[in-house]
Amino acid sequence: MHDIVIVGGGPGGYAAALYAHNFGLSVALVSDERPGGTCLLRGCIPAKQWLQIAEVYSTVQHAADFGVITSEPTIDWGAAKARKSQTVEALVRGLGGLLKQRKVEVIIGRGRLDGPKTVVVEKADGETRLEAGKVIVASGSYARTIPGYEIDGDRIVTSDHALDWPVQPGRVAIIGGGVIGCEFASILAEVGTEVHVIELLPQIIPGGDADSVKLLEREMTRRGVKFHLGKSVEAPRHGPSSVVVPFGGESVEVDTVLMAVGRGPRTENIGLETAEGIEVERGFVKTDLKTMQTGAAGVYAVGDIVAGTPQLAHVGFAEGIAAVTHIATGKPAPVDYLAIPRVTYTHPEFAEVGLTEAQARETGREIEVHSHTMAGIGRAIIIGQTRGSVKVISEKGGAIVGASVVGPQAGELIHELMYAVGWEAYPSEAAAFIHAHPTLSEAVGETLMSAAGRSLH
Ligand code: NAI
Repeated sequence: MHDIVIVGGGPGGYAAALYAHNFGLSVALVSDERPGGTCLLRGCIPAKQWLQIAEVYSTVQHAADFGVITSEPTIDWGAAKARKSQTVEALVRGLGGLLKQRKVEVIIGRGRLDGPKTVVVEKADGETRLEAGKVIVASGSYARTIPGYEIDGDRIVTSDHALDWPVQPGRVAIIGGGVIGCEFASILAEVGTEVHVIELLPQIIPGGDADSVKLLEREMTRRGVKFHLGKSVEAPRHGPSSVVVPFGGESVEVDTVLMAVGRGPRTENIGLETAEGIEVERGFVKTDLKTMQTGAAGVYAVGDIVAGTPQLAHVGFAEGIAAVTHIATGKPAPVDYLAIPRVTYTHPEFAEVGLTEAQARETGREIEVHSHTMAGIGRAIIIGQTRGSVKVISEKGGAIVGASVVGPQAGELIHELMYAVGWEAYPSEAAAFIHAHPTLSEAVGETLMSAAGRSLH
């Protein structure tokens, strides 16, 4: 008997397991692989390591711009992959150690509910039944594909395979220009692969702030990515050593097709139907976002399987914490979804928080939009990355409701705007603080000053 049994060892599940120690609750964490989930094992962490590899390559390539003379860099793909694996290994081991230290019982096997208070685990050596005070389901997601594009791990792959390509592919078509599509396009173009991104909708990162996304698209195009927007792909034609991807009367011939058309919830065959009251909508679990409880009392859902919340590792963490807090205290401690930063780790990076300009207008509010380019920011000129801008959206005479940043370190810069959105700060309040000089953060400071009605530069 455990106070909490958690099904799924990704960010949602392991955050819940780690956080439970704050309340002295006993926890079993059931995972069909080493805890870490998509994020650590085949998502955020390895993908960002590849982005760093591409950035180092590009930095060396352009070293002469800074008067540093090197020979022409080449990529040792095997060594780069080993670096990626070492990073993953370090974090997975670290997590294992932390779970042990917090006395979480980790059970490797496939878990499924058998009613609201029992989890059955299919292990290599047979089945175990775990009795639970409460259950948290955090079973995560899988990469989707579309008809005609059967994943074979070779010619048609998902991000799972693309993190472990045995050699650098020469030509890649990426289907889907969302977050995964753009991040992989950025990595590949930077290391010299020919990259085509074919996106159904007229803009990349659908839902992202239109101006900022346009800026990102322009920058990525300048760095060699070929975007084909508003195009619907037809069935691929397989040749002996290549694939032809047709779309809207055109086609591209590539070595490999990377599918990045979204991720589906892993909720089949995990016994959700055995707990009366759980409602599932297109595979996603309907969840009370104040408590993270499903329709069955005592059964919680967190992470990528939750209906209507972003599929992000940090959302999983936050939802895991919210579920455990409700279990321990009986009081709701809901996640503030509006203040969750959304970062696309392309070069340049693109980060947002709160409402986009279009969303803010849709609410019927009268809004003001202020932006400031990176071009005149001293630190941006020093590092040679002046393309990008900061955009702040505020209610006329009111609080900051959203922001986006394109440019170097956008994923870091967005966090001060996260506080502004979360605390509903007025531009004048946020602009009262002085940013250190010379920093990239000054671009945020300048935008806030403009939003407060008194610009400086
Ligand atoms: P996504 O939902 O971001 O993008 C999928 C894209 O595929 C959309 O632009 C969609 O319009 C397009 N699409 C769908 N069907 C298509 C078709 N038949 N032809 C062409 N395009 C088509 O999903 P993605 O990029 O696969 O990522 C999955 C999830 O993982 C997302 O929720 C994302 O937020 C998350 N993620 C987050 C990261 C981050 O925070 N940096 C990194 C990687 C993934």
